[in-house]
Amino acid sequence: MDPINRPKTQSPWRQCLVGLLFQLLLALCLFSYLRVIPGKSTTTEPPIKTDNKSYPMTPHPPPLVILLWTWPFNKPVNLSPCSKLWPGMADCQLTADRKMYQKADAVIVHHREVSYRPRELLPRSPRPPGQRWVWFSLESPTNCQQLKALDGYFNLTMSYRRDSDIFTPYGWLEPWSGQPADTLARLSAKTKLVAWAVSNWQVNSARVRYYQQLQPHLQVDVYGRSHKLLPSGVMMECLSQYKFYLAFENSLHTDYITEKLWRNALEAWAVPVVLGPSRTNYERFLPPDAFIHVDDFPNAQALAQHLQALDKDQAAYLRHFRWRETLRPCVFSWALSYCKACWKLQQENRYQTVLSIASWFT
Ligand SMILES: *[C@@H]1O[C@H](CO)[C@@H](O)[C@H](O)[C@H]1NC(C)=O
Repeated sequence: MDPINRPKTQSPWRQCLVGLLFQLLLALCLFSYLRVIPGKSTTTEPPIKTDNKSYPMTPHPPPLVILLWTWPFNKPVNLSPCSKLWPGMADCQLTADRKMYQKADAVIVHHREVSYRPRELLPRSPRPPGQRWVWFSLESPTNCQQLKALDGYFNLTMSYRRDSDIFTPYGWLEPWSGQPADTLARLSAKTKLVAWAVSNWQVNSARVRYYQQLQPHLQVDVYGRSHKLLPSGVMMECLSQYKFYLAFENSLHTDYITEKLWRNALEAWAVPVVLGPSRTNYERFLPPDAFIHVDDFPNAQALAQHLQALDKDQAAYLRHFRWRETLRPCVFSWALSYCKACWKLQQENRYQTVLSIASWFT
């Protein structure tokens, strides 16, 4: 019998096996996530971040105490011990209790909550010797206010940019050698052409302007505030019906490739049509045929024609899924990011100051 249509009676053995496999997958994802380290040799960015006086600190007995100065966007995050996410890793004590400030080895400051009045909202008491401050943002520079006011306070950066000290991308690809995915079964569910979910509709943004050029030539189903409703519980199911997804970023910056691509498009097995940084920049993180870039076409009409042609040419459409034979997408979580910080703070133990976040984070 076709495995997809098998009746729902599952033996406990099978459930157990599935559970095990799932855990293995999670562990694998985390493992490769931790391995993705921004190497000096692979980045082309100028060395703008540190003074040249980096010298080793005395090794610290674990566990490291890491204070989360605020919860991101004031929403508490479920933290699990890092050793549970990644067996073998030494745990840190992650806490959001500000009374721990004097004992903290590191303080992670999520940008948004301090951005309104940085000088007042950053820790005010004197900094204990050796304590490192980590600047953390997953928003793009366009959406980070008051960066200039942070010059000279921080020791490490943590963001989606690959040349951050702690690199926390929205998603990444994981080598895969397990069972091949049943691509054809996935694709047989696709009865619609193009979807786009957008919550922040700004008339003058690059993405809305591009959409307006595209729309006369192509039927695009737009979801989100003031468009078709898309409750988060059914989002993936809904987007899985589409062959393509417009992964249009709200602003254009180096390495700024968000959940629009990693979750909305790739998890729904929709081919991402991207508008963001350059194709070369995307290719740092994805195989060339894993996405379609708006810059590949002279104009929106040519893109529309290309998508319509792919709709009729199954073999050509399937080429956008070949990478899945050896790779799997993984997506960001806050808990994982904090564990990556824990790991990195244990690995790297030296004095440094980020002289200017503003001149780097552009
Ligand atoms: C962190 O940066 C501050 C501010 O520049 C500096 O005074 C301190 O020595 C640095 N600490 C470490 C551990 O690098």
